[in-house]
Amino acid sequence: MTSINYAKHTATLCSSYSNALQHINGPYRAVLVHSGVEHHYFGDDRAVSFQAYGHLLHWIPVNRPNQFVYFRPNEKPVYFQIVPSDFWHEQDINVDPAWDQQFTIVRLVTLDELAKQLQQLSKSDLAYIGESPAVASSLGIDKSLINPQALLAYLDFSRAIKSDYELDQLRAANQLALLGHRAAKACFLEGGTEFEIHLAFLQATAHLEDESPYTNIVALNEKAAILHYQFKRKANEDKGQVLLIDAGCRVNAYGSDITRTSVSEDVHPKFRSLVQAMEELELALVAEVCPGKTYQSLHQSTLTRLARVLIDNDICNGSEENLIALDIPQLFMPHGVGHLLGVQVHDVGGHQADSIGTLLPPPANSPALRNTRVMEADMVFTVEPGLYFIPLLLEAQRNSSKGKLINWKNVDELYCCGGIRIEDNIRVTDDGAENLTRQFE
Ligand code: GLY
Ligand code: MN
Ligand code: MN
Repeated sequence: MTSINYAKHTATLCSSYSNALQHINGPYRAVLVHSGVEHHYFGDDRAVSFQAYGHLLHWIPVNRPNQFVYFRPNEKPVYFQIVPSDFWHEQDINVDPAWDQQFTIVRLVTLDELAKQLQQLSKSDLAYIGESPAVASSLGIDKSLINPQALLAYLDFSRAIKSDYELDQLRAANQLALLGHRAAKACFLEGGTEFEIHLAFLQATAHLEDESPYTNIVALNEKAAILHYQFKRKANEDKGQVLLIDAGCRVNAYGSDITRTSVSEDVHPKFRSLVQAMEELELALVAEVCPGKTYQSLHQSTLTRLARVLIDNDICNGSEENLIALDIPQLFMPHGVGHLLGVQVHDVGGHQADSIGTLLPPPANSPALRNTRVMEADMVFTVEPGLYFIPLLLEAQRNSSKGKLINWKNVDELYCCGGIRIEDNIRVTDDGAENLTRQFE
């Protein structure tokens, strides 16, 4: 961990939390951030894979239950580590020297010990943010100070803008994931199964599945039409002609989220042209990114450009205007063009218009759009246009008026190819964009 940038990052967080407390001017003057508690499957003693709360990871990359950051303005933040006495599991936490400089680190064994420490520190003015009101109450925090809406809105909104430290982690997470994408593509071209391609990615990136920022999507052929396809087939009926792999890595809790679509030599030539067109479309969208622009306008531009691709490749008939007026591009791309990215793959605050929590919902014709923010320097998001042949959406239109604008012969031939998504991670700069992904390709 680069300690200078990390020191600046925690200093920025301290200002941000201080500003939040000052602006909100609520009945709390300090904040306790909780990583979360361990959960078990119903009727089972097996624990669900743990995922720490994003606001804890924003301070310190420890993906463990019952870790706490205590913040009071003008004081050094305190990192309370609960390290239970437990001979079943490894509980030790290696302390990075960079954390030691930024926090007073207090190592405790139980939550009761933490409750005693907080009694001395907090004078009933402590807000709690995290998943467990029960833990908060056991620590003596008043119900009215658990997850205050105004505080969450402020902190969620601020997370979209990344510090230099965060950008370093995001670049590293992109660089590492590209090693995986290279290995995955090679495995695909050698005839690998979804399962083998998935393992090739994990091996090349030295990731356990649990360490990934999200479940890898590894889809061959028609399965590429399933947006969040979750299985990994262990046998191939035919050699794969299309691979859609959406897979990322984590570095110090920050995730990359990258999709590549590859094709074999013998893929349908029309599908090959579409992949080429979508690569160009994605790069054209990235070139549109700049501060002051709304993310919604990038989404609208995606739909317009997609209409052009559909017409140019004989998937649809009619004019761009016709297709847009009838929401036909959305039949081929039912998701938004991307989302904020950080310690959570779909990072928080994407639908907020401001730090007080005014909501800016997605447009009615694109309800799945996860980001409606105005672009600002050092905001990080994905740009991920797609074009899919999804039977569920298309077949419903076969005999409709919209269906008259679709060239069914080509659609029928391309169902077996599934779909295309091209996804990069983008930082807004002062006058354009930094492509956090392609710079390492
Ligand atoms: N990996 C999920 C997504 O691209 O949003
Ligand atoms: Mn993705
Ligand atoms: Mn994504």
